[in-house]
Formats: sequence, structure tokens, C-alpha cells
Amino acid sequence: MNANLKIYVAGHRGMVGSAIVRTLQQQGQTQILTRTHAELDLTDQAAVRAFFAAEKPDHVYLAAAKVGGIHANNTYPADFIYQNLMMEANTIDAAFRCGVKKLLFLGSSCIYPKLAGQPMREDALLTGVRGPTNEPYAIAKIAGIKLCESYNRQFGQSHGVDYRSVMPTNLYGPGDNYHPENAHVIPALIRRFHDAKVNNLSAVAIWGTGTPRREFLYVDDMAQACVHVMNLPQDVYVQNTQPMLSHINVGSGNDLTIQEVAQAIAQIVGYEGRITFDTSKPDGAPRKWMDSARINALGWHARVGLASGLQSAYQDFLANNFPQN
Ligand SMILES: NC(=O)c1ccc[n+]([C@@H]2O[C@H](COP(=O)([O-])OP(=O)(O)OC[C@H]3O[C@@H](n4cnc5c(N)ncnc54)[C@H](OP(=O)(O)O)[C@@H]3O)[C@@H](O)[C@H]2O)c1
Repeated sequence: MNANLKIYVAGHRGMVGSAIVRTLQQQGQTQILTRTHAELDLTDQAAVRAFFAAEKPDHVYLAAAKVGGIHANNTYPADFIYQNLMMEANTIDAAFRCGVKKLLFLGSSCIYPKLAGQPMREDALLTGVRGPTNEPYAIAKIAGIKLCESYNRQFGQSHGVDYRSVMPTNLYGPGDNYHPENAHVIPALIRRFHDAKVNNLSAVAIWGTGTPRREFLYVDDMAQACVHVMNLPQDVYVQNTQPMLSHINVGSGNDLTIQEVAQAIAQIVGYEGRITFDTSKPDGAPRKWMDSARINALGWHARVGLASGLQSAYQDFLANNFPQN
């Protein structure tokens, strides 16, 4: 990769954005352009246009987004659809206006239809309805993918525009959100088992039967996938996607039950009490698993196993929540 590129990583303080910065730095990139949310609000069109006109980056990774769990999505649906639409539209259009040829957008496996066949292939997108909980977020994310495709279709030939999208599975790792109410499965369980350990609780109850299967990917593997997809030769990307079906799934390829995940986390955290299952609570979909054959065929594979990924995540949790440790 050309080390002289000027690369803008939007959302560089988030879990994924910070991992992309780490990966780019490990690969020798020295001109990484970042702005905090306070310095540049991506929902502000004039500010975004001024930033791009002044900085003229070569590559853009769009890892800024308003993200949250079920509670936040239910409580703030207007924020989720409006802010994500604005961030994507402003960033992608401003990039185009100042001549950016390459941009990578991040979708999410949670925008596939609720009843998509398993494993979920790229062509499952828009084949069915989402659940109501995250529909506003999903619509905005789908719009981001369609923005990239539409700029490619209209301006690919004339302006050399080459905007790509990846679709990550559930991610975890350093920089995750461990909020007691809003966290995803892995960070939530890390917090709960840690709290149970320090408070000597004899049991931790987990919602549901523990049998649903979920897929998880360590965030640095995801970041490497982002850089890999961004740097694929254009003819290779075009041959492996379609103009209106251009996103590429990124998953570990392994799914496991919630019970197995919980046991693995309890072991890493050192919690020796019982794990029980509150079967009066709902389970959600029995299985959510991505078909990652496309990106595997393009030369990327997950490298970090669950045990070592969880170990790094727990160290990050301790360092950020209990710096005195
Ligand atoms: N985490 C996962 O499991 C997962 C799974 C699939 C896909 N993804 C996708 O990966 C992307 C990044 O997710 P993440 O987990 O890294 O999220 P995150 O940790 O919440 O980071 C999001 C970043 O976006 C920034 N941001 C939000 N609104 C902004 C605005 N108006 N202007 C400028 N910056 C703004 C945030 O800055 P502030 O904190 O300062 O607001 C933060 O740095 C998202 O597109 C998400 O859909 C994540």
C-alpha cells in the first residue's frame, strides 16, 4: 500500500474506527486524518464540505455512526435515522465533490431481514422486512450502501469513483461499550461476570435458554478486513460484486451458542459461580450467522480466536473501568 496516502478515518475514537487507525499505522500509514465529533459534526453539511475541501483526503473510511442497543433504538428512533442518513450523505457527497476516489462504508449484519436464510448471504439484503426495533437504523444503513452504489454507477466511469461497503457481524474488543443497559452481548457479559466475581455472587442469570447461536468477530480482524477490501484492485472488486449488490459480508465463520459464549467469558474473567438461564425471557432468532465465502475467496480470513480475543477485551475493560488495576 502507498504510505503517502492521506487517509481520513471518520469515527476514529469508536471501537471500529480506532481499530482501523491501529491497522493502518501497523501497515506503515503515516498520514491519518482524524477529527473528533466535537471538532467536526458529520451531520453538519457545510462543515463537512469545508473540511473535505480543505483536507482533500485520498481514502475515506466511514466508521462514524450513531449506534446503540434495543433500548436506545426504541427510545430515539428519530436520532438513529436522521443522524445516520445525514452523516452518510454529507460524507459521501463531500468526498465526491473534492475528488475522493476511494471510500469504504460500514453496514451491519443487523440490517438483513429478520427472517433471512442462514447463513446470511449478501443477496439477502432487501428481501424481507426488519423487526420494528431497529428499522430506522437499518433503513439509514441501507441508504449508505445505496449511496455508495449510486455514486459508483453515476460517476464511476466519468470520475473514477470507487466506493465500497462491508457488512460486519457482531464485533467485540478494545474500545467496546460496557454500559450496563446499552451494551452488546459480549461486553454486557464481561461486565456482569466481573461484577459477580468481585461481589462473590453465587450465580449469574442470563436471559433466555442459552441455545440461540451467534457469530462474533474480534474488532482488529474487522479492521484488517476493511483495509483489505479498500485495497483490492478495482477489477477484482467489480468481478466479485454487482453494481447494485456491492457489499461484502465480514464474519468469523464460526457461530456458537449464548451458553458457550457465557462459559468462555466466565472462564476468562475468573468467575466460578453458576450460570443459570431465565427461560421466561425471550430468546430472539435461533441463529444469526453470516456467509463470509465472498471475502474468504478474496483472501481475508479471521485470525483472532475467541479465547484470545476475549482476553484482550477483558484487559481493555479493566484498564478503562478500573484504571487503578
Ligand atoms: N460494534 C459492532 O458490533 C458493530 C457491528 C456491525 C457493524 N458496526 C458498524 O461499525 C461502525 C462503527 O461502530 P462502532 O461500534 O465503532 O461505534 P462507536 O464505538 O459508537 O463509534 C462511533 C463513532 O462515531 C462518532 N460519531 C457519532 N456521531 C457523530 C457525528 N455526528 N459526527 C462525527 N462523529 C460522530 C462517535 O463519536 P462520539 O463518540 O464522540 O459521538 C464515535 O467515535 C458503525 O457503522 C456500525 O454500524 C458495528
